[in-house]
Amino acid sequence: MASKVAALLSCALLVVAAAGYYTPPNPATCGLKVGYYHDKCPAAEEIVKHVVGDAIFHNPGIGAGLIRMLFHDCFVEGCDGSVLLDPTPANPQPEKLSPPNNPSLRGFEVIDAAKAAVEHACPGIVSCADIVAFAARDASFFLSSGRVGFDMPGGRLDGRFSNASRALAFLPPPVFNLSELVSSFSTKGLAVEDMVVLSGAHTVGRSHCSSFVPDRLAVPSDIDPSFAASLRRKCPASPSSGDDPTVALDVVTPDAMDSQYYRNVMARRVLFTSDASLLTSPATAKMVSDNANIPGWWEEKFKAAMVKMASVEVKTGNQGEVRRNCRVAN
Ligand code: HEM
Ligand SMILES: *[C@@H]1O[C@H](CO)[C@@H](O)[C@H](O)[C@H]1NC(C)=O
Ligand SMILES: *[C@@H]1O[C@H](CO)[C@@H](O)[C@H](O)[C@H]1NC(C)=O
Repeated sequence: MASKVAALLSCALLVVAAAGYYTPPNPATCGLKVGYYHDKCPAAEEIVKHVVGDAIFHNPGIGAGLIRMLFHDCFVEGCDGSVLLDPTPANPQPEKLSPPNNPSLRGFEVIDAAKAAVEHACPGIVSCADIVAFAARDASFFLSSGRVGFDMPGGRLDGRFSNASRALAFLPPPVFNLSELVSSFSTKGLAVEDMVVLSGAHTVGRSHCSSFVPDRLAVPSDIDPSFAASLRRKCPASPSSGDDPTVALDVVTPDAMDSQYYRNVMARRVLFTSDASLLTSPATAKMVSDNANIPGWWEEKFKAAMVKMASVEVKTGNQGEVRRNCRVAN
């Protein structure tokens, strides 16, 4: 047990060393490899990209869902597709049904479609965990009009275990303050700057009112008053499951993956305490203003941080399997 933990930790540390900050890490990280399917299933990454591109063309919000899905997969049991598993009689409460994922996480059908197409081309070769990682990479590419394009290593195996209570334990809620966020990310081998940079994913997609009304609108908060007023017009005062509309995370460029999020943070036009908390230390406030003000800076860092997040606690060798159906363990 102790040696397993040590292996996971040293793997995360290796990635830190290999990733640096300005260039994406070199091919081999944690047993993962860029072009992993080059010989085994040459069309795999192209197939995923095509399916994701198609889905985003019809609904850009699905792209946001896929980027979030990688985060929610990797923080719970590692990047092993555990978030995709459906309930079964033996396991009635998988991650998918936990409050951080249900009902807000979207894009599962896109993973199913990509898996079906990839299985058609090369049965039993491409893991669901890799499809989630490729899909998040491709969604970033499309939503940024190609500005956030990067290589994503492959070679993850799929896990067999998924428990809703672990999702609650490891996915940071929107009420977290800076020190809680830093500690949540550091549990997964991610640094303060990774957390700040990955939070920039809140440049796309949406939130349900219930995720921020109680914490940010119903009580005094630092949210910009005119922004708060516009949110109050869109959200009920006490959202419930029957009455829980959604609003854009990035009020300025809702469907574009860009550094606008950081300008929103500085203007206090962000939804969550977790977003606002990035200004509560001088070091993270400096990262926010650099990401906001230096052209291309955030994009480069985001590429590296996504690859790093996608290597958290990955399963290789006999720790996992290649699922036939992403919703069911073999
Ligand atoms: C720093 C801690 C984080 C917290 C507390 C947090 C919290 C949240 C919450 C509460 C929502 C709205 C859910 C809803 O009500 O519908 C959301 C949406 C989203 N989050 Fe995060 N998040 C964090 C980090 C991340 C990271 C690391 C990523 C990916 C790299 C990410 C990507 C997204 C995306 C793209 C959406 C929009 C999803 C959609 O439109 O379907 N978030 N987040
Ligand atoms: C999931 O976690 C809960 C709480 O720790 C536990 O009661 C339950 O037995 C777990 N389920 C499985 C299938 O391991
Ligand atoms: C963050 O929240 C924790 C837990 O509520 C609290 O102990 C800590 O003092 C808070 N930190 C800051 C910087 O507000």
